[in-house]
Amino acid sequence: MTDFLKEYEQQFQELGLQLRQNGYVIADQLLPSNLLAGLYSELREKHQSRALRSAKIGRQKDTVQREDIRGDQIQWIEDTGAVQSEWLAWASALQLFLNRQLYLGLYSFESHFAHYAPGAAYQRHLDAFQGEANRVLSLVLYLNEEWHEDYGGELWLYPSVLEGTDIVDTASTEPLVRISPQYGRVVLFMSEEFPHEVRPATQDRFSLAGWFRLNNSAANRIDA
Ligand code: OGA
Ligand code: MN
Repeated sequence: MTDFLKEYEQQFQELGLQLRQNGYVIADQLLPSNLLAGLYSELREKHQSRALRSAKIGRQKDTVQREDIRGDQIQWIEDTGAVQSEWLAWASALQLFLNRQLYLGLYSFESHFAHYAPGAAYQRHLDAFQGEANRVLSLVLYLNEEWHEDYGGELWLYPSVLEGTDIVDTASTEPLVRISPQYGRVVLFMSEEFPHEVRPATQDRFSLAGWFRLNNSAANRIDA
């Protein structure tokens, strides 16, 4: 992990600056290419062996499957196998760096592989429930080789505004930014600030989504 940190300090620095400035950042060629290739083939293998499962929506026990809202199939990443372990080590180096540079207080990281079949989408949503101090920073990594823009499958981030201390969806129909799911591209955005949606594509769309969380018990303590 500290190896990653030394090696990628320069890139992480640029990333952190943009994240602080805009609340989101898009980075190409951020991951080591062997790690990228490993994740790519692992996800293809899972897809081919039908190991991915329809994703659900909702909190904890109240989850339901609603393909009209969320059409991806996923598998959570665990600290098993060389590739997944290296991925988690990379994410934890990034976490450490962002905590030092931006004082984000990130405490843990969770992530899953995802596949959207042609036509599948994920309707506009927020990754964090406001006031619950859970997901702070969202990450998406795209694993599609030779993706042409006319395939669709973009991630659209929408603007929000601050009303008092609340972050409010502007209900704008015009996205702030449209991001094509190109191979190796990483997107980071503040989970509570950006309503977003995944647009349907004409091709299979592969990605990895992750979230850095606060330590809930500490966050809920008044004088932590
Ligand atoms: C999600 C999500 C974005 C993407 O999984 O919550 O918003 O581009 N993914 O895949
Ligand atoms: Mn999301």
